Amino acid sequence: MDFSDPSSFAARARPLEQSDIRSVTRRVEAVDGINLGQGICDLPTPRPIKARAQRAIEEDRSVYSHHAGIEPLRRAILDKVQRENGIPALHPDEVVMGVGSTGAFVAAAFTLLEAGDEVVLFEPFYGYHRNILELTGATLRYVPLGGLDSTFDPGAMKEAMTPDTKAVIVNTPANPSGKVWTRDELTDLLDVMQTHDLVAITDEIYEYMLYDDAEHVSPASLDGAYERTVTLSGFSKTYNVTGWRLGYGVAPAPIAEKMALMNDLLYICAPRPLQHAALAAFDEMDETYIAQLQADYADRRAMLCETLEAIGFDVPWPDGAYYVLADFSSLRDRRAGFADDAAACDTLIKEAHIGSVTGQSFYEDEVDGDTELRFCFAKERPVLKQACRQLRDAFG
Ligand SMILES: Cc1ncc(COP(=O)(O)O)c(C=O)c1O
Repeated sequence: MDFSDPSSFAARARPLEQSDIRSVTRRVEAVDGINLGQGICDLPTPRPIKARAQRAIEEDRSVYSHHAGIEPLRRAILDKVQRENGIPALHPDEVVMGVGSTGAFVAAAFTLLEAGDEVVLFEPFYGYHRNILELTGATLRYVPLGGLDSTFDPGAMKEAMTPDTKAVIVNTPANPSGKVWTRDELTDLLDVMQTHDLVAITDEIYEYMLYDDAEHVSPASLDGAYERTVTLSGFSKTYNVTGWRLGYGVAPAPIAEKMALMNDLLYICAPRPLQHAALAAFDEMDETYIAQLQADYADRRAMLCETLEAIGFDVPWPDGAYYVLADFSSLRDRRAGFADDAAACDTLIKEAHIGSVTGQSFYEDEVDGDTELRFCFAKERPVLKQACRQLRDAFG
């Protein structure tokens, strides 16, 4: 078989290629620069969580767990989603541990969707959502929700829907836009879901990264929403353990049971010793950790947004998550190297040694996002400070 011939691969593997994000990483490394592109949070993992992981490994808690996860962790998550998210789940069986929230997303998507189904995805989107949904065979219907100021428009969603529309994806707080859905918007969305009998998969991985007065509302907490919602979140972002691959889904029992079986089929279980370690997030850490995290991120957000504004970007300050999707149209009118997002990304690497992500990565249509770059501010403070200095020196 000739593996230089794309047709020797399965159709689902053929379109897979190294994303722009990774190629930027390589180019930034080549100039010894700072990568504000990839959403990698390089802050340290809290000590109590690390200590529990060490203990769990020492104690040989290393065999497969129950396919939905260890019972004490599922109980702790149940308690957390009831108390903090207002989700009316009642039993630990409604919680499924996944290999990251991404693993839980895969399990949910493969449990609910197949060829012939349609699913609504808002733009700008998170690439993994689109790519995983495509793997299920479902057809995607894109609905613009661009720019931070834009409000959910039920009319635009209905226009994109057909009788085959089965699901909608909600990401709040959102990557890359930083949008945080309001209760009113979610109420309007629920109305569309109930009228058209849709199920929602909600990605709430950034639920604690909130700024100013933004409030995180879990869609499943609205009256009548839980029965048609799969809520996803995880430990990666809040506790700086992106590489541990530990997330979860919460859903009504009939969905959760199938999701758990799908998780069993695809992954067997989430990493066992790390499930034990994650318990420390609930019984050794309190709200002061979250308050500190929010204050730290707010600071970093200000540092990056002010820098980008100072060098000529138009910056919608995010209400949540840790990304800025900034527009460089006015810079483009003033200087060379900013013809489109790919050129701008190149220019930033060459002249400031700073990595970013091209705006087009977040839209289906090639002309959308071509004046935008995404930056991530989940960086150690001295690194972010240095990055801002490099941007100001090159373009200020
Ligand atoms: C919107 C969104 N969901 C999920 C993830 C990944 O989460 P996890 O590490 O839990 O799989 C990311 C990471 O960048 C993200 O931006």
